[in-house]
Amino acid sequence: MFKKVYLDNAATSWPKPKRVVEAMSNFLIRQGCNPGRAGYDCSIEAGRQILKTREKITKFFGGISPENVVFTQNITYALNFAFYGLIKKGDHIITSDLEHNAVWRPLKTMEKKGLISISVFPFSQKEFSPEEFSRLLKPETRFVVINHASNISGQVLPVKEIGAAIKDREIFFVVDTAQTAGSLSIDATEIGIDVMGFTGHKGLFGPPGVGGMVLSERVAEIIKPVFQGGTGSVSDSEFQPGFLPDKMESGTPNTPGIIGLREGIEFIEEEGLVSINKKTEKLKDLLQKGLEEIPGVKIVSGPGEDFVSTFSITMEGQDPGFLAYYLGEKGIMVRSGLHCCPAGHRALKTFPEGTLRFSPGYFNSQEEIQFTINTFEKIVTGK
Ligand SMILES: Cc1ncc(COP(=O)(O)O)c(C=O)c1O
Repeated sequence: MFKKVYLDNAATSWPKPKRVVEAMSNFLIRQGCNPGRAGYDCSIEAGRQILKTREKITKFFGGISPENVVFTQNITYALNFAFYGLIKKGDHIITSDLEHNAVWRPLKTMEKKGLISISVFPFSQKEFSPEEFSRLLKPETRFVVINHASNISGQVLPVKEIGAAIKDREIFFVVDTAQTAGSLSIDATEIGIDVMGFTGHKGLFGPPGVGGMVLSERVAEIIKPVFQGGTGSVSDSEFQPGFLPDKMESGTPNTPGIIGLREGIEFIEEEGLVSINKKTEKLKDLLQKGLEEIPGVKIVSGPGEDFVSTFSITMEGQDPGFLAYYLGEKGIMVRSGLHCCPAGHRALKTFPEGTLRFSPGYFNSQEEIQFTINTFEKIVTGK
């Protein structure tokens, strides 16, 4: 019936809004110059486009200033920049048991080298309690690092409550919004987030290859660059500029990607974040309920009521990889396995097989969801 049903928006959103594609291609056809590197028109215009995107992101995420928006190629780079640019030997870090490898691997590597110690709050099992959370705090606790929503179960973690629990302390709050930016409203300053990492290609509807971070003032002052190189500014100096965003942005930026990201955010503003969320939530509920009724299907969930439109299932006696393959044969695209999140699967007791993950997006229809339920049922029942 359908040629393709794309249900892997947690990996990357697809299709992209037409305006994203058009703006990127217009830039490459009509301007396409290197921003901030020369005095001719199209270089100045490219720089202006990047500034406009910084302004858009500042407003969209409640940042304090466009200079405090740093562009990277994705959130993995942004988080690594934050860790390697801020963490010092002896620091203690609190994180969750649902972290993606973008957080887990750098932190575990630093721990293995004896640089840091880590405490884990079991968000996959327990609802947040300020008292229990406070028991993890130590005099040397310098960071709390968590994802805003799990990329396995879609469980939303309580960033507002955590922000309130560590407010007025010398503890930096780092939040990975890979699964929430564009679907939940986030005010980084109000929540007290010091490093809000974002990736452009998922809920923000931008292209792959662009992401970044929104920095608080106290972090902006002390963060150290991981890379040094050309910034198009203070070229007479042998050293990296000390001011943002140049301090953290070396080399030619992904200008078309940055423009595409701004268009993605403008698309969200035009459609309305709430109505986008309402639609994807409805599709997710329909799919989850439909699959749940099939004997043997188990939803991989977590405590609380708050979930984004991503969820995982396991199926008794069935390998998630095979199920994804059979769905793929019918044109239904979903992801199976560990989703770059072995820590989360261990916590959810779905390691090492992993799960079958469904993540409907704004461009899916109810008919596609019903087709997916029917097809899945046929695959597992053989009827
Ligand atoms: C929670 C979470 N964090 C980080 C990432 C990494 O995103 P990117 O590959 O865009 O850096 C992902 C991607 O799936 C994710 O789901």
